Amino acid sequence: MSNNLLKGKRGIIFGALNEQSIAWKVAERAHEQGAQFVLTNAPIAMRMGEIQKLAEKCGNAEIIPADATSTEDLEALISGAMEKMGGKLDFILHSIGMSPNVRKGKAYDDTNYDWFHKTLDVSALSLHKTLQSAKKLDAMNEWGSVVALTYIAAQRIFPDYNDMADAKSLLESITRSFGYHYGVEKKVRVNTISQSPTPTTAGSGVSGFDAFINYAADMSPLGNATADDCANYCISLFSDLTKYVTMQNLFHDGGFSMTGVSKKVMDRFM
Ligand code: NAI
Repeated sequence: MSNNLLKGKRGIIFGALNEQSIAWKVAERAHEQGAQFVLTNAPIAMRMGEIQKLAEKCGNAEIIPADATSTEDLEALISGAMEKMGGKLDFILHSIGMSPNVRKGKAYDDTNYDWFHKTLDVSALSLHKTLQSAKKLDAMNEWGSVVALTYIAAQRIFPDYNDMADAKSLLESITRSFGYHYGVEKKVRVNTISQSPTPTTAGSGVSGFDAFINYAADMSPLGNATADDCANYCISLFSDLTKYVTMQNLFHDGGFSMTGVSKKVMDRFM
């Protein structure tokens, strides 16, 4: 159902790898709500060609590849997006995460520091680079909205989340810091959404993910939030209905973050 919440708005959506990706659902929903946008991902992630299918579904959206760790790529992406869509941007979705330590099963207390740097660069600094490039190019309209996806391991320990926990803490800190500067100077909003565990390629990389997803569901009064519902929340943050929300970490997790223990989990120990 469309309420045309994003009618006339232009954006960039990072991170749609396949149909499971949170960014994929955001793109579908943004299209439904009348937005025009450019899809982007790392050149290597485009090999499977899935993103073309999404672009077709979204009114033949433009695709511009960019490695989100390269400011050169990001500047070309942002300038290209403004040129192709004929104006400044109103929203950006940062839906990017990757840890070589997680992928290769390297323990947190035996970390490979080159990989750790890579984790921070891809999963956190890429947000700073995106914001800085957009600001330098004066690419965002006033009241524009940038949303990045995060996870509660930034606040609480989830042992298998490894160095991604540190990356998410940094991502949330960049959101506050850049949100301040971008807000004062250009009235641009920056927020993170802290999403429930969700079965996607990035999510499933964390060991024990299936057991963990069931645990989180049992701990959350409303159950785990789905990728589709996460997309709805992103759309609300891109819309003009949330103009004064900025520098926040917003939990979208069915109540998990506020639950000490649930009856369902307690029952297993009774
Ligand atoms: P996904 O695997 O579909 O998306 C991750 C994306 O990051 C992929 O499209 C990948 O190509 C992209 N990426 C990796 N390196 C890149 C680079 N150098 N430049 C540009 N793009 C790059 O998985 P998902 O779950 O949709 O992840 C999206 C975001 O949601 C991530 O930030 C993730 O940490 C976050 N998140 C995911 C949760 C889950 O359980 N799946 C829970 C909470 C947050």
